[in-house]
Amino acid sequence: MRLEDRVAIVTGGARGIGRAICERLAEECALVAVVDLDLEGARDTSDRLRAMGRSSVAIRADVTRRAEVDVMVQAVVDAFGRIDVLVNNAGWDRMELFLDSQEETWEKILAINLKSVLYTCHAVLPHMIGRGYGKVVNIGSDAARVGSTGEAVYSAAKGGVIAFSKTLAREMARYRVNVNVVCPGPANTPLFQEIAAQNEKLAASLEKAIPFRRLAEPSDIANAVAFLASDEASYITGQTLSVSGGLTMA
Ligand SMILES: NC(=O)c1ccc[n+]([C@@H]2O[C@H](COP(=O)([O-])OP(=O)(O)OC[C@H]3O[C@@H](n4cnc5c(N)ncnc54)[C@H](O)[C@@H]3O)[C@@H](O)[C@H]2O)c1
Repeated sequence: MRLEDRVAIVTGGARGIGRAICERLAEECALVAVVDLDLEGARDTSDRLRAMGRSSVAIRADVTRRAEVDVMVQAVVDAFGRIDVLVNNAGWDRMELFLDSQEETWEKILAINLKSVLYTCHAVLPHMIGRGYGKVVNIGSDAARVGSTGEAVYSAAKGGVIAFSKTLAREMARYRVNVNVVCPGPANTPLFQEIAAQNEKLAASLEKAIPFRRLAEPSDIANAVAFLASDEASYITGQTLSVSGGLTMA
């Protein structure tokens, strides 16, 4: 098992890609703290992990609020004694052309997709540095790498995550803490379905454009995260890996 007894925090673990990441890490024997705004969903994920025979806690936290992040991180340390893996997966977007969008929406997109990553990293990294061990995997988006009409501010936020992760990887290497980014292509999740509900042709046109002719399943993304969270990836840092069925190649 690649993550035997590793303690992992997964943000946005109540559904979609985050839930699949929690399940995949637990399959590799990690102890997972499932963090989400949606406590009921987080508990449901946590129950699934316990049914697999793994220890897990569900914690409600809004990762856009530093004080809630600090309380959450302390709760994980209290529950498990350490933090080995941090997966920053919580994210959100609303598709609209930039010139139609409002500043209030920009603030929300930047807070959830970018600032939350700064908060969790700032709170968790001292625990990893102290032990000279850690794996941070940030969930970006191919929107940041190749652009995506209707996702300008989201692309900026995810591009920020990629740039932040590269510099953080340099600063953290001396402590044997790895920092990498996984960029999903279009993935079949509740968030995608909410966006696709406003554009009935979106899924079909993407399936045509994706060389593998299907959307990503959450498990496709989770497999890449589990690898980067494991010691098999110990010499990989500052990298951005697209999991997009060939839609993007960079
Ligand atoms: N689905 C896609 O096509 C796709 C493509 C590229 C990147 N991504 C990225 O993958 C990640 C997961 O996306 P998904 O499609 O599974 O989304 P989702 O909406 O299905 O799940 C996201 C989870 O994050 C939680 N969350 C949102 N804001 C939060 C906050 N402030 N604090 C704590 N939890 C919060 C939600 O409650 C939800 O459970 C996101 O970072 C997203 O940007 C998704």
